[in-house]
Amino acid sequence: PTGEVRDRLDRPLRDLRISITDRCNFRCVYCMPKEVFDKDYQYLPHSSLLTFEEIARVARQFVAHGVEKIRLTGGEPLLRKNIERLIEMLADMRTPSGKPLDITLTTNGSLLARKARSLKDAGLQRVTVSLDALDDATFRAMNDVDFAVADVLHGIDAAHEAGLGPIKVNMVVKAGTNEQEILPMARHFKGTPHILRFIEYMDVGASNGWNMRDVIPSAEIVRRIGAEMPLVAVNPNYTGETATRWRYADGGGEVGMISSVTQAFCGDCTRTRLSTEGKLYTCLFATQGHDLRALLREGRSDEELAAAIGALWRVRGDRYSELRTINTDGLSRVGERRVEMSYIGG
Ligand code: GTP
Ligand code: 5AD
Ligand code: SF4
Ligand code: SF4
Repeated sequence: PTGEVRDRLDRPLRDLRISITDRCNFRCVYCMPKEVFDKDYQYLPHSSLLTFEEIARVARQFVAHGVEKIRLTGGEPLLRKNIERLIEMLADMRTPSGKPLDITLTTNGSLLARKARSLKDAGLQRVTVSLDALDDATFRAMNDVDFAVADVLHGIDAAHEAGLGPIKVNMVVKAGTNEQEILPMARHFKGTPHILRFIEYMDVGASNGWNMRDVIPSAEIVRRIGAEMPLVAVNPNYTGETATRWRYADGGGEVGMISSVTQAFCGDCTRTRLSTEGKLYTCLFATQGHDLRALLREGRSDEELAAAIGALWRVRGDRYSELRTINTDGLSRVGERRVEMSYIGG
């Protein structure tokens, strides 16, 4: 039952994002606001989490269906104990044509200085680090746990030294909150080997109080940076890349724009997501997942698991960002309860 699969919009399956914990040591205002994720918040119990063996078993079936890239996310993935052991298991896998997988990880950087070396040794190829401001007060207010910028920058340095580059740095831009940091961030990373990417604030989940007025369109960000440091458009690295690329005309490296609100990129979306408890979501904005853990724990065979994955992909028709409608008050259309980013992974 394995081999290449295409969904209803003829998109192949290439990219598996695995959330390995729903916990995080940050409380970013746009992702895990303190009012919702307080001390009474019920995280998943340990028994609900897929074990590393279960994750690897599922991942192997995805690879058989064409997945070439695996990204570990969370919550904060580096909070999961012995993550290195999982990375080793994934690094041992090969695509049907015999290539190793592209294994990467999205982190807030808080534990990176300590872990970069062991992650690299385990077989991780690169990391993406989230950083929303260079100004310490702004950053502390956004992560809402008083975490210092300098510690994330140390983490980025450590990852670079360990060979986990080129490192991508993701900045979610929220109007009126950190938009004044666009230029300082661009200036700081210009001329470094790191690639800064600006992300339009999205209406994921149900707890961040998203409003269209909080979004700064990428075109505006390009304009603001370009006015000081001229930018030239660059072709994508691969089809389905989330970011559009721009390079500095003077050779100072490149930046990326992830415009999921103003220029949706569902057309060639090859991504699927596995939640911490083993539910498969075929879109970041899905309201319902498919329970693969049940199949694993019912003792189904690899063939049955592979058949289920193939069947789910073939019926996939998701293109939420393309269909997003916004009410006159700027709110995204309230539908069923969408899953939180901290649960499904970024
Ligand atoms: P690279 O392999 O480094 O190119 O990774 P990537 O381009 O997949 O980027 P990354 O995983 O760093 O994702 C960056 C951000 O893009 C995420 O944090 C999300 O905010 C957004 N994003 C990623 N995938 C999707 C998606 O499928 N849909 C939407 N709407 N946004 C996405
Ligand atoms: N909009 C855009 N990006 C988001 N992220 C988390 N929530 C949102 C949102 N509402 C990003 C984080 C990080 C990745 C995990 O997802 O900043 O880069
Ligand atoms: Fe944690 Fe990342 Fe969400 Fe911030 S954006 S709360 S670091 S999972
Ligand atoms: Fe893919 Fe859904 Fe994001 Fe569109 S909204 S790019 S279909 S995950």
